[in-house]
Amino acid sequence: MRQMTTMRFALAVLLITGSTGLSLAADPDAPRERGRALAEEHCGGCHAVGRADQSPHPGAPPFRMLDRRLDLDTFAERLRNGLTSGHPDMPTFRFTRQDARALVAYLRFIQGP
Ligand code: HEC
Repeated sequence: MRQMTTMRFALAVLLITGSTGLSLAADPDAPRERGRALAEEHCGGCHAVGRADQSPHPGAPPFRMLDRRLDLDTFAERLRNGLTSGHPDMPTFRFTRQDARALVAYLRFIQGP
């Protein structure tokens, strides 16, 4: 009888850890985190990508102010089609749909007042 209880306990633990794994996979913050990584990797050399930092390139607008300059609703589309700023210092970027959405999710998250 006692053994049965132990078994049930083990099963319960399995079920709980199993479902935690599942909910981690569906973490709603995951795209945003991916977007932050993309911004840091590809854009952070010139643009401020956080909430309070200065752009390393003096001419590059901080990402937290981008919604004052452009429409974030259509920005994912621009990222997918190849983003150019018209500025010779900035290379052209082309993102996959998923990466473009992730970056925009992050951009929305950091927009200032
Ligand atoms: C090598 C430096 C550099 C890198 C790397 C860079 N940028 Fe820029 N970016 C600039 C500069 C400089 C400007 C200012 C252009 C201007 O005002 O004409 C700019 C402007 C912009 C603008 C404003 C354009 C507009 O239409 O107002 C956006 C949006 C932008 N960058 C997005 C990005 C994104 C997204 C990345 C990364 C995927 C990135 N940039 C990487 C230098 C860079």
